[in-house]
Amino acid sequence: MKKKAKNWLNKRNKEEYFKKSKYLGYRSRSAFKLLEMNKKFNFLKKNYSLLDLGSSPGGWSQVSRKEIAGGKILGVDIKEMQKIKNVDFIKGNFCDHDIIKKIMVYFNYKVNIVLSDIAANTTGNKSLDSFKTGELCLKAMDLAKKILCKDGVFLSKIFMGPIFEEINNNAKANFKTVIKYKPQSSKKESKEIYIYCKDVIQI
Ligand SMILES: C[S@@+](CC[C@H](N)C(=O)[O-])C[C@H]1O[C@@H](n2cnc3c(N)ncnc32)[C@H](O)[C@@H]1O
Repeated sequence: MKKKAKNWLNKRNKEEYFKKSKYLGYRSRSAFKLLEMNKKFNFLKKNYSLLDLGSSPGGWSQVSRKEIAGGKILGVDIKEMQKIKNVDFIKGNFCDHDIIKKIMVYFNYKVNIVLSDIAANTTGNKSLDSFKTGELCLKAMDLAKKILCKDGVFLSKIFMGPIFEEINNNAKANFKTVIKYKPQSSKKESKEIYIYCKDVIQI
């Protein structure tokens, strides 16, 4: 193994949340971000229906399944996701028309929660990466507006950058409550934050 890759692996293995996720059986350290945000906003409720965009490898779906026992959960990702009990999965790009149609039909056109932990493939250019992830967040918000029930919740990852204002304005135009939040389990050096939106403004 190359020295750089070895250093990266050593650093990751030492990292607190990575170790914790392995110990507790979560597939990703991201699971702790969702647990933390649910503690703060208390939105994952029993019997709810939930769409998990960018679900692979499955940490958020694992947390959702525990918190909303009895509900209906669908993960969507361009990468494969190994089976999680009581979680359904569609492999594909959530921006594609046929995938959107499948999502709509799965939930019978109404869902309580839309999560998006989607991050665009990294190019090495941080501004471009944050812009591309921002664009995906806007598309996820678009889908959320169409499919969420009136008091529904949309929670999405974004990276602070030039597209942030557009996302924030869009969120405020479409949801009554909009809160930006950086979980403690999100790396301090990362520009990642989350936007929590609740109660769709009906026109
Ligand atoms: C940070 S990971 C999500 C981690 C996940 N929340 C967890 O807890 O395991 C981001 C995911 O977004 C997916 N993704 C990126 N663009 C996508 C798209 N257009 N449609 C669906 N999934 C996408 C990637 O394949 C990747 O698996």
